[in-house]
Amino acid sequence: MRPVLGVGALFLSAAALAGAPEPAGDPGRIAFQKCYACHDVTPGNDVAGPSLHAIVGRPIAARPGYEYSAALRALAEREGRWNEALLDRFIADPEAVAPGTSMTFTGMRDPRERADLIAWLGRQSE
Ligand code: HEC
Repeated sequence: MRPVLGVGALFLSAAALAGAPEPAGDPGRIAFQKCYACHDVTPGNDVAGPSLHAIVGRPIAARPGYEYSAALRALAEREGRWNEALLDRFIADPEAVAPGTSMTFTGMRDPRERADLIAWLGRQSE
């Protein structure tokens, strides 16, 4: 019994040290490295881009104090909220969905990578 408990405790403390509630190899978390230069998922932490905390279902262009482009405000008028389908289109080609957006990201072409990323973003909502 003792050695088994010891291994469990070691595993838990290693996970806590890594600060990773999900497996370190989560493909969505890995895909987020392409966004990380400009975005954080911590609530309220706008950097170059707005915080993406709880982005799935969130109203578009709604971070108070963040200066969105006219393009993103127009998208908000048209679409209202981010859902998974709209996020998928935006991440694939931001300029196509919001022409003139200040998000200078050329787009993530791989649908599998986008799906993993959106699933991971959906969990960054606690
Ligand atoms: C070079 C910096 C940069 C990168 C890289 C980048 N973004 Fe952005 N992002 C921005 C900026 C700037 C805005 C604000 C756009 C505007 O106002 O037109 C934005 C806006 C957004 C929004 C709208 C948020 C809201 O509050 O409505 C989403 C969603 C988003 N980005 C997702 C992503 C994802 C996912 C990635 C990675 C695949 C990514 N971005 C990569 C800079 C970036």
